[in-house]
Amino acid sequence: MSQPQADALVFFGATGDLAYKKVFPALQAMIKRGRLHVPVIGVAKSNWNAEKLRARARDSLEQHGGLDPDAFARLCELLKYVDGDYKDLATFTTLRKLLGDAKYPVHYLAIPPMVFGLVVEQLKKSSCAKGARIVIEKPFGRDLASALELNRTLRAAFDDSAIFRIDHYLGKEPVQNLLFFRFSNSFLEPIWNRRYVESVQITMAESFGVQGRGKFYEEAGAIRDVVQNHLLQVLSMLTMEPPIGSDPEAVRDEKVKILKAIPAPDLNSVVRGQFRGYRKEEGVSPNSKVETFAALRLHINSWRWQGVPFYIRAGKCLPVTSTEVLVEMRQIPEIYMHQPPPNYFRFRLNPEVSIAIGAQIKTPGEEMIGDRVELLLSHNPGGDEMDAYERLLGDAMKGDQSLFAREDQVEAEWRIVDSLLGSATPLYEYDPGTWGPRESDRLIARDGGWHNPVISHPE
Ligand code: BG6
Repeated sequence: MSQPQADALVFFGATGDLAYKKVFPALQAMIKRGRLHVPVIGVAKSNWNAEKLRARARDSLEQHGGLDPDAFARLCELLKYVDGDYKDLATFTTLRKLLGDAKYPVHYLAIPPMVFGLVVEQLKKSSCAKGARIVIEKPFGRDLASALELNRTLRAAFDDSAIFRIDHYLGKEPVQNLLFFRFSNSFLEPIWNRRYVESVQITMAESFGVQGRGKFYEEAGAIRDVVQNHLLQVLSMLTMEPPIGSDPEAVRDEKVKILKAIPAPDLNSVVRGQFRGYRKEEGVSPNSKVETFAALRLHINSWRWQGVPFYIRAGKCLPVTSTEVLVEMRQIPEIYMHQPPPNYFRFRLNPEVSIAIGAQIKTPGEEMIGDRVELLLSHNPGGDEMDAYERLLGDAMKGDQSLFAREDQVEAEWRIVDSLLGSATPLYEYDPGTWGPRESDRLIARDGGWHNPVISHPE
């Protein structure tokens, strides 16, 4: 069923970090592309006014991607601001008034997860929820129980077709390309299974720390922040069965099916780490046991994947910033050749987009020995490529849920990591600039060790 185009965009957390880094640049980009013509209302509790929010928007654009004078002027015309406490219903009645005639507003919650429930209830009480859609940032809940609870709260105020659970990884070109590459190349399907694949690794490395987000991070940690959502999404796209049609539900159905086939890992298959210095960050407890690094070994109980280990690793303050998938193929029999290294597929999702296939060719000479080479398919985003937030906010305004997580998907993701949250496993310290605690090497030792993404020009 076609959905009405949104006639207002409200974003909660307007003075916060996410708005600064991602939302203002996405809004400017939408304006430049001629896709944003409706009032944009920022909401926060900062004792600010609209003028101060516009100054913040200017600063944000100067720092993140560059300011376009015409688009910025238009953004200032569209931008309004409501200052107030989320606990206070008056904040929401003011918002309702400012929405004027808008019938189909989109409310985007760029706020800490613990206030999602409160804001949703207030939206309902103040009639701001009527005809509206809601976009919820990840992590969706703190664990399985709170995600179920949050879903109940949301469903009391919004229809399921109006709930948009954002995971910005789904809006990224290279992540969508995983599905595209898998299902549009006939050479892949026959070998994309347990008979040919030896192991799979997904690494999301970041060379920076928590960047002033200590307070948020203390509530999250690496497992909640990126494993439960971004990395399990990537895993599901790498391993799901082909969808039975091109409609969004067919894709979401397959993702849920594969996530349900992943048992929660036993605690020996998980390593948590914390970089030295994290406890001195602003907003972080001096005794914090929150992980800034996590490595997991998972299995998939499906016909296609049984017996193949899947390794996931994410961390802050690692040597480089890069997200990469390595799918290692099985060894050939050592009869004719002297044990050449296995073939592999390497998908780089960040900072640049590339897909590489690792192969062997003969070294010229009398001996039958070879060199390892890569067939590299690369695509560097040009200036015009849509950023994930621009894409996803635009889709939410159109009412298109294809690139948003469905309720059962989020719950299946929590079920995998639920028993690992908090201090269920030991925490090991590591030095910034290293690849995390040594214990994580032991986790993968039997599969040849971690593949560390190589960046030609590390920041
Ligand atoms: C966010 C996490 O969801 O993703 C951050 O909260 C992380 O901790 C970020 O740095 C990474 O996103 P991207 O798009 O820069 O890879």
